[in-house]
Amino acid sequence: MARRRRVYEGKAKVLYEGPEPGTLVQYFKDDATAFNNKKSATIVGKGVLNNRISEYLMARIAEIGIPTHFVRRLNMREQLIKEVEIIPVEVIIRNISAGSLATRLGIPEGTALPRSIVEFCYKSDELGDPLITEEHITAFGWATPQEIDDIMAMSLRINDFLIGLFLGIGIKLVDFKLEFGRLYENEMVRVVLADEISPDNCRLWDTKTNEKMDKDRFRRDLGGVAEAYQEVARRLGIMPEGGPRDIQAPTLMQ
Ligand SMILES: Nc1ncnc2c1ncn2[C@@H]1O[C@H](COP(=O)(O)OP(=O)(O)OP(=O)(O)O)[C@@H](O)[C@H]1O
Ligand SMILES: [Mg+2]
Repeated sequence: MARRRRVYEGKAKVLYEGPEPGTLVQYFKDDATAFNNKKSATIVGKGVLNNRISEYLMARIAEIGIPTHFVRRLNMREQLIKEVEIIPVEVIIRNISAGSLATRLGIPEGTALPRSIVEFCYKSDELGDPLITEEHITAFGWATPQEIDDIMAMSLRINDFLIGLFLGIGIKLVDFKLEFGRLYENEMVRVVLADEISPDNCRLWDTKTNEKMDKDRFRRDLGGVAEAYQEVARRLGIMPEGGPRDIQAPTLMQ
């Protein structure tokens, strides 16, 4: 196989040049990091599961009319995506208090929020992804007011949709992080959902037991990380063919 050009290597994924201009191949690694890279480990099978889970969720979200970067899954660890200009803002949607909201505002973890809360963080590892407001986003030109409106509308629709989807399989969607980007197509530009949606960037709790089924298992050394991701995939009805055996398969050569 010809060597592909590596466009970017992040903490959880690698981006390669895609087969056609304007496309990229997103490769999901088994690497996990937390607390802005201070903690890192390899979780065998995580990349395979996140590739599947993100494929499934992006496809369902596209079905309700929200544009996404997802084109199709290529193999166990890779998916074809449309290349976008990432807006350097992480959008966090919260339904139940947890994580930084709980610590910052002293609202006990697990408290149902009176309404869904959307937060913005500036995407900067050096600065530790600081919390920002719309004022910062427009003042520094990271996105226009119209783009922020589109991002808010899409985020809230995705939230309503995913709350229901997860509730149907016995999971509470506590909070999650989204990234959006500008897609340039036929002299037009529009904002689309990008990156991934997986237990790496969602908090998912079992409705009956409140057991964590997401990256907090890794952050808090609770163990059973891969098993929890696997259980999310199983409940979504998308366990990789061949079951867990598939997940242990060796990484594809690049
Ligand atoms: N469709 C897309 N086009 C271009 N870039 C994308 C697209 N979707 C996601 N990305 C970017 O690809 C990278 C994915 O890698 P990964 O998630 O491992 O990064 P990361 O370590 O979280 O770092 P950071 O997000 O801070 O760059 C991210 O930078 C993400 O913003
Ligand atoms: Mg990332």
